[in-house]
Amino acid sequence: MTTRPVAAEAPADSRLEALGRDVRAGFAQRPRTLPPKWLYDARGSALFDEITRLDEYYPTEAERSILLDRAPEIVAVAGADTLVELGSGSSDKTTALLDAMRASEQGLHRYVGFDVSADALAGAAAALGERYPEAVIDTCLGDFDHDLDDIRHDGRQLVAFLGGTIGNYEPVPRAAFLAQVRSILEEGDHFLLGTDLVKDVDRLVAAYDDEQGVTARFNRNLLRILNRELDADFDLDRWRHRATWNRAEEWIEMHLVSTVDQTVTIGALDLAVDIAEGEHIRSEISAKFRPDGIDAELAAAGLVTVERWYDEDRDYAVTLARPD
Ligand code: SAH
Ligand code: TRP
Repeated sequence: MTTRPVAAEAPADSRLEALGRDVRAGFAQRPRTLPPKWLYDARGSALFDEITRLDEYYPTEAERSILLDRAPEIVAVAGADTLVELGSGSSDKTTALLDAMRASEQGLHRYVGFDVSADALAGAAAALGERYPEAVIDTCLGDFDHDLDDIRHDGRQLVAFLGGTIGNYEPVPRAAFLAQVRSILEEGDHFLLGTDLVKDVDRLVAAYDDEQGVTARFNRNLLRILNRELDADFDLDRWRHRATWNRAEEWIEMHLVSTVDQTVTIGALDLAVDIAEGEHIRSEISAKFRPDGIDAELAAAGLVTVERWYDEDRDYAVTLARPD
């Protein structure tokens, strides 16, 4: 087994500076927003894993069923011997693709897991190293908004972005991200994109506001992270989780709603923030897609759809694209 980190982790102080900048910029907007990548510390990654096992959170199983059914076809069309996965998390569903690659004509040469969460990467690399001793298992700790160039190109690559994580971008940064992905693809490489689809509002909202309150804990964990990293004093009991469907934008919004009038201080930023009862911080969006829209966004980034697969209920789509 070979597992090795490819990019060095950004030094702790520059990470903190980036978080500070994001919080300052996000809190200057109305509604206040925070970028979602900060949700994934060790506890956040573990809570997200719990989300994927909830009855209400259908995207994980929908995507898994597509990959289990179609991986041999995907791998054959892509002809890839290397899988690069962005936002790989626990790399749990990834084994469907890796198994198919191993069984394919070209075989499995290399896997690169790329994530901002060191804990998620370490766990995934250990498990994959054991399961695929013949392959090179690399991890790349970084931010896929900035560090895609750190991925060494080697072999014929299938770059996968699963879990519907693309939906966590707003349209403008989403287009920039897709253009970045396009720029690391060479001729013969492919891009595999998992997208949740527009559907019945009640099911959408339930997926982001489960009965057991796991998603609420995941969302509120962001405040815990700000307390720890930026010396803030958010009282988690004064914030409730809310998920709403934004019909015009076709995305789910995750809010942290203040239950009282309060002043929060963020020590590291020398900031005191007055927040009224009912005011909210928007911590995350999760956009839902339509097939035509996916094709158009890929095309705008210089990518052409090769094929698309759906789960039985058509809740979710996996799209294979290549450079145009
Ligand atoms: N692919 C997995 C995990 C999806 S959750 C699945 O389908 O279940 C989103 C993942 O993306 C998390 O592991 C998170 O740590 C990672 N992530 C979020 N923002 C990121 C960023 N800017 N750069 C790199 N990884 C990021
Ligand atoms: N990429 C996942 C999604 O959009 C992330 C996610 C699931 C999430 N549940 C969440 C993010 C709750 C924040 C809060 O489905």
